[in-house]
Amino acid sequence: MIFVTGGAGFIGANFILHWAAQCDEPVLNLDVLTYAGNAENLASLTADSNASAYRHEQVDICDEAAVAALFAEHRPRAIVHFAAESHVDRSILGPAEFVRTNINGTFNLLQCALAYWKGLGAEEAAAFRFLHVSTDEVYGSLGPDDAPFSETTPYAPNSPYSASKAASDHLVRAYFHTYGLPVLTTNCSNNYGPFQFPEKLIPLTITNALEGKPLPIYGDGRNVRDWLFVGDHCSAIALVLDKGTCGEVYNVGGENERTNLEVVHTLCATLDALRPKPSGRYADQIAYVKDRPGHDRRYSIDATKLRERLGWSPLENFETGIDRTVRWYLDNQPWVAHVKDGSYRHWIEHQYAGGGTATDTVDVLEGHPT
Ligand code: NAD
Ligand code: TYD
Repeated sequence: MIFVTGGAGFIGANFILHWAAQCDEPVLNLDVLTYAGNAENLASLTADSNASAYRHEQVDICDEAAVAALFAEHRPRAIVHFAAESHVDRSILGPAEFVRTNINGTFNLLQCALAYWKGLGAEEAAAFRFLHVSTDEVYGSLGPDDAPFSETTPYAPNSPYSASKAASDHLVRAYFHTYGLPVLTTNCSNNYGPFQFPEKLIPLTITNALEGKPLPIYGDGRNVRDWLFVGDHCSAIALVLDKGTCGEVYNVGGENERTNLEVVHTLCATLDALRPKPSGRYADQIAYVKDRPGHDRRYSIDATKLRERLGWSPLENFETGIDRTVRWYLDNQPWVAHVKDGSYRHWIEHQYAGGGTATDTVDVLEGHPT
């Protein structure tokens, strides 16, 4: 089997669903279920829990005894590490949790994986993989005419989030060079698609638009991100896990650079076509708000290595990916409602024990600095 950490989050859940659709190899999801973890994302796998090759352990990746026990019990052939605090704005308000999970948590996983790996026979040890999922934000911010980030771009993180991810990348690298642990690292650009928590730009815009709320644009709206459809990211990770060279880094990007204003206008136009308002247009809801401190201007990824060495190519371009994403949010309004009213946090009890009440509220979904 394989271990996936953070599998109840946005990309982890998409990865587990992608994996289950491709093969029967069992997956154990190590996820403590923070505000960003939503067990409902994997409802299609847990619905038939007897037949499912999927299981969830509610465990903190910083808990050494618990993680070591899971390695000993399940003897995975690989671990794909997504678990993290992932939202830049939250890292500005409260960096401590980012240091704890992203740095200490990754360190703990490396320690547990190393101890386990050292005890494997030669064949199993050679086949073992630790795949660390990271971000392009570790490379810092680009000017308008700078070349895209490559795997050799020097690290220059600017937010507590990206600094904590950079630290975790360095630890992963060190465990390969010092101890020989068979690691792989992927650094990808901004993901979007189904199951993304509506604190990030694309799902926040879609859900606020449908609720008639303002669509907040930080600063002048001309910051550029390189948007990657989450399904294409999942196929890249599966490919790197299967064919990547240990100790190497692979950048994953969609080659879809867009300003935030372009992204929001595309979303509004898609909603105008699919769910027109009785009067006016969704773009009328756009509201410029105070900029994020230290806001990186531009990210762009050069994914040539992944394309040429491993044969990866994305299936979606920005327009098709946005269309799929908007349709998913329109078709999954109960999922959105459970996130907005906080009841997703009680989904497991509600689903399996008949209990649970929808009482939590999710503060970040309310309002933005103006
Ligand atoms: P997410 O915030 O949606 O999900 C994170 C998951 O990790 C949640 O399910 C949460 O419960 C779990 N988690 C957090 N702390 C934990 C802990 N201490 N122990 C166990 N589980 C814990 O994140 P995401 O957007 O799915 O991102 C996944 C990974 O991809 C992260 O490492 C992130 O840095 C990286 N990444 C994300 C993006 C993006 O656009 N979302 C881009 C580049 C890289
Ligand atoms: P986000 O989705 O938070 O991802 P990241 O900060 O990791 O790139 O933000 C994407 C871009 O959108 C970023 O430039 C900040 C901007 N943004 C807004 O303009 N308004 C918003 O409400 C949010 C959440 C983000």
